Amino acid sequence: MKNSVVMVTGGAGFVGSHLVETLLANNNEVYVFDVVPIEKANNLKEVRNHEKLHYFVGDLRKQEDIQAFWQEDATAIYHLASVVGINHYIDDPLKLVDIVVIGTRHILAEAAKSNTKVIFTSTSEVYGKNPEVPWAEDGDRVLGPTYVDRWSYSTGKAVCEHMLYGMYKQSGLPFVIVRFFNVYGPRQSPNFVVSQSINKVLRDEQPLLYDDGKMTRCFTYVDDIVKGLILAAVTEEAVGEAINLGNSVEVTVKDVIETVLSTAQSDIGYKQFITSEEYGKQYEDIIRRIPKVDKAEEILGWKSEIQLEEGISKTIGWAKANPWWVGKSLDEVAEVK
Ligand SMILES: NC(=O)c1ccc[n+]([C@@H]2O[C@H](COP(=O)([O-])OP(=O)(O)OC[C@H]3O[C@@H](n4cnc5c(N)ncnc54)[C@H](O)[C@@H]3O)[C@@H](O)[C@H]2O)c1
Repeated sequence: MKNSVVMVTGGAGFVGSHLVETLLANNNEVYVFDVVPIEKANNLKEVRNHEKLHYFVGDLRKQEDIQAFWQEDATAIYHLASVVGINHYIDDPLKLVDIVVIGTRHILAEAAKSNTKVIFTSTSEVYGKNPEVPWAEDGDRVLGPTYVDRWSYSTGKAVCEHMLYGMYKQSGLPFVIVRFFNVYGPRQSPNFVVSQSINKVLRDEQPLLYDDGKMTRCFTYVDDIVKGLILAAVTEEAVGEAINLGNSVEVTVKDVIETVLSTAQSDIGYKQFITSEEYGKQYEDIIRRIPKVDKAEEILGWKSEIQLEEGISKTIGWAKANPWWVGKSLDEVAEVK
């Protein structure tokens, strides 16, 4: 996708900012839509004044903002803007519906007018707690009851996937769904296991170990994710498909915290966080979350290349060089949303 016009929603966010930097480095005209004003978008500090960056402040919940932003000649829109992080959707499940479901509906309405390819960022959460791992893209969705707020995110993203399949069948709107598995790396908000542990250790605080820490995840470094996103946009065979983007190595959350402690050469240990005491019945954890990765390899020629130790080491190196991020508390992050 060299020298073309592309749109990115959520470009001031963690994954979005890395994507924007790469798209600019590849000589694209990049139009970013985000609710955060550019002067507050620390994640885009390095490229803020880039001549090919066109930044638009708007809210996905307002159709008129999206209309004002829309670039008819764009080759694709990468739709990343979303409510992200379990604390946010437990705090305000209605906001999740407004931003994820109604916001995406607004994006699709504009995309349909100009027949613009939509790269939709979905999540491993759509598989819910399906015990049959690894999860292939056509695997079942196994969810808990609706009074458990955590399933609202999975359901919201799945509704968006349904809208995309529907519009593709009815009017041929081109799309690719990418389902990310636990992305981590520089600039991530410090409320996910890798970023929270690094942030706390560098502040001389104990990282939180959720329950027994035996749940497993497949952590995927942000640079790998950006490569996968761009391949999804430029690969013709990917149109009309949902594709997992995830590392295939399964590790326990406890192992991750221990890797952070040893890489940062810290002996501070960890603090127990009992989810049933903090969240009550609103919380339900997923024991194992593992992607099947063959489809990404076959269609996109993509494979996650950066393994956890290397990714954690890179992220710690970046965090030490960026005191603004280390000083960022969870409360400040919550305020932005
Ligand atoms: N990080 C992960 O591990 C992960 C895993 C699975 C899926 N995803 C998906 O990837 C995408 C990017 O995630 P991220 O980790 O970069 O999240 P992030 O929170 O860092 O970025 C989301 C961006 O969306 C913007 N946004 C929120 N509400 C908005 C609104 N109403 N209007 C306009 N912009 C708004 C935010 O300001 C932010 O810049 C999301 O769609 C997320 O669901 C992420």
